[in-house]
Amino acid sequence: MICLPPTLRPRWTWRYILGATGATYLLYCFLFASPLFSSRLPQYTGPYAVGAIDLEAPVAEPRRAHDARFKHNDKPAFQVETVLFTIYYPTTQGTISTKPHHLWVPRPLGLVGAGYARFAHISNIVTDSLFTFGLWALVGRTEIPAQVDVPLHGSGSVVSMSVQTPGGTAQSTSTASDGFPVMVFSHGFASSRTQYTQYLGELASRGFVVAALEHRDGSGPGSIIMKRGSEDEDRVMFALRHLQDGSGLDAETFKQAQLDFRQIEIEETVRVLRHINEGKGDQIFAGNPRGEGRELKLWRGRLGIDNATIGGHSFGATLALQTLKDGPSPALPFGGAVVLDPGKSSGRLNDDVRVPALVVHSNSWSRKRSIFFGRPHFDVVKDVVQGIMARGKDAWFLTSLGTSHPSVTDAPVIEPFLLSWTTGSTIDAHEGVRQYVGVSESFLRYQVTGEMTGLLDECVTHPEYDVKAEGRVLSRIFRKYWQIHAAPCSEAKDD
Ligand SMILES: *[C@@H]1O[C@H](CO)[C@@H](O)[C@H](O)[C@H]1NC(C)=O
Repeated sequence: MICLPPTLRPRWTWRYILGATGATYLLYCFLFASPLFSSRLPQYTGPYAVGAIDLEAPVAEPRRAHDARFKHNDKPAFQVETVLFTIYYPTTQGTISTKPHHLWVPRPLGLVGAGYARFAHISNIVTDSLFTFGLWALVGRTEIPAQVDVPLHGSGSVVSMSVQTPGGTAQSTSTASDGFPVMVFSHGFASSRTQYTQYLGELASRGFVVAALEHRDGSGPGSIIMKRGSEDEDRVMFALRHLQDGSGLDAETFKQAQLDFRQIEIEETVRVLRHINEGKGDQIFAGNPRGEGRELKLWRGRLGIDNATIGGHSFGATLALQTLKDGPSPALPFGGAVVLDPGKSSGRLNDDVRVPALVVHSNSWSRKRSIFFGRPHFDVVKDVVQGIMARGKDAWFLTSLGTSHPSVTDAPVIEPFLLSWTTGSTIDAHEGVRQYVGVSESFLRYQVTGEMTGLLDECVTHPEYDVKAEGRVLSRIFRKYWQIHAAPCSEAKDD
């Protein structure tokens, strides 16, 4: 018998065959049709240009979500050492950075390729290389069109003001005096901080500061943990099978450990943003091993961090709801939430929500009936939204027609053919993102002003997915793209 090392012995499972087919397909695309299948990310369309800063910051004290350890090196799997996120923010039109654009697939590619191979359960030297090669061939040179490390719009020239009245309460009437509204965004499973750049960059171009996290809870393909004075550490995708026996975790508690790890990362991100807003941006820059953030010292008072928004997609949406439990609090100061396709297999959804929320389902998320802890997932989500309204806060539950689960990510914009073919979305990829941006922008503005505009000013059209309410239609511009399942709109408004 030939003794190959176990990693090289092919296992003829369907996963292996699928993975090999996928890799061959990627190779084919590269050799024959690569330019046809992969598109550039378009420029942002809002009134501001968009800046981007990669920030990694060490936590003051390492914080642990769970004591489980890795098999391969005996290190704790759920210990947060640093937090990594990209800030997308408004900058002045015409600002051009001297630094190169960020790449859509962060380096090293090999780490990311190996991570995706692990997701497919076919990681070995051969498949890792094939995935890496596929990534390089298809999207290796794809750039994020934001300007790297340019000044925040108006920083340096406009001094932010908050007026103290004799009574001692801070008067703030406009967004400007409170700084730009802030959203902290959490990605889904098998994803990373660079997978939602079109959606988040568009929001930045409309006047919002967005922190796009990269979670190191094993749910991303691969990320490097960098800390000044320590060696870089690779954190490739991991699952329960990569942890030592006796961790006491099962499939469900493993996910909860991931969520708790993610929540720590969110809290640390808030802490970093607060420091920046307090004028300590130079310290954050000095501690950032990624070398960006030169101008952060000028961001004092520019961030509306005390009434921020938590956003998330899929696993990240489940997390977004979790962070609202008992909230808001100084550590999790979220006065609103944007919840996109809350997870169907990421554990229970927290329904203790006391702040306004926008919940958006993609079409395929609503259409496919899934049983979730004994009930239809759709009903559970609708109950969460109605529970918020029962507490006297505004909340919306919508379905975005023609879209599929990845429609809000960059993937369909970059690979429109591949994605519409594999996921069944029928909407034009750019239109899909545009619809998500439009409704999210309305919500983020609502959170600051209390004004319901656009889609948020419409009434329930479909109490259930695809089940019409008598005599209810949306305004023409929304009809083709949306169904509204729950909304604060009162009947009287329509008369
Ligand atoms: C956020 O700001 C809005 C508008 O000023 C206000 O109604 C809401 O109570 C604030 N939320 C929190 C949690 O401070």
